[in-house]
Amino acid sequence: MQMHAIDEAGSEESVEKFLWNIPAGTLTHVRSIKDASFTSLNDLVMTGLDTFYTTNDYIFRNNWIRRLEYFTFLPINNVVYFDGKAGHVAMRQLRRPNGIAISPDHRFLYVAESSAKQVSTFRISRPGQLEHVSSRYLGALVDNLNVDPDSGDVWVGTHPIGYKIFLKVAFPVGTLSPSLILRLKMYAGVVQDVSQIYSNNGSALIGSGVASFYKGGILIGTPTHKLLYCECLIC
Ligand SMILES: *[C@@H]1O[C@H](CO)[C@@H](O)[C@H](O)[C@H]1NC(C)=O
Repeated sequence: MQMHAIDEAGSEESVEKFLWNIPAGTLTHVRSIKDASFTSLNDLVMTGLDTFYTTNDYIFRNNWIRRLEYFTFLPINNVVYFDGKAGHVAMRQLRRPNGIAISPDHRFLYVAESSAKQVSTFRISRPGQLEHVSSRYLGALVDNLNVDPDSGDVWVGTHPIGYKIFLKVAFPVGTLSPSLILRLKMYAGVVQDVSQIYSNNGSALIGSGVASFYKGGILIGTPTHKLLYCECLIC
């Protein structure tokens, strides 16, 4: 099996490809992918062995300038399609795109536009060519998206009070930030129904950046706190 991971630690953004030997529990590094279109990678979703869509959530690379950019809330960020050789901007004018996911049939791409507090969906007309289908306002800072391969539901990790999770990540003392996990029922790229699956005021779980669902169990991850395992009684 292969695994791709974003490396945003160095002076250049890259996507690192590994071969994952599951029985042995080892990763072997295969390739480092760099491209001028990678300005600030946040998340990616694979569409083939070497092709993927990825979100750029900032245009500036300097951390202090990024903090200013954070508060401008301008629609200046993008989604890039990497075709195996080079990256191409596939959708512009997005508001801090964060998580990205694809429908099980690979017809629709879902993008969490975190500063617009919405999940937008795009039809993939050809590889790298996207058409906007719909945007659903969720009223919370949307973080990562996961698609349940069986039902096609989109699981959304959100932070209901955006500035609190920003403070928690920037200054990891004091503040509690609440958590909220939403499940979106989709049909043809349009959200049909939104259910609140888990919420907490921050006393048990500080923020909720990601949730993944498997056979009644949910794993919830946080930017700075712990990992929570829940059993869903209504899923
Ligand atoms: C958070 O909720 C818990 C109960 O789940 C309650 O005891 C606590 O006072 C609440 N904290 C705040 C800050 O509202």
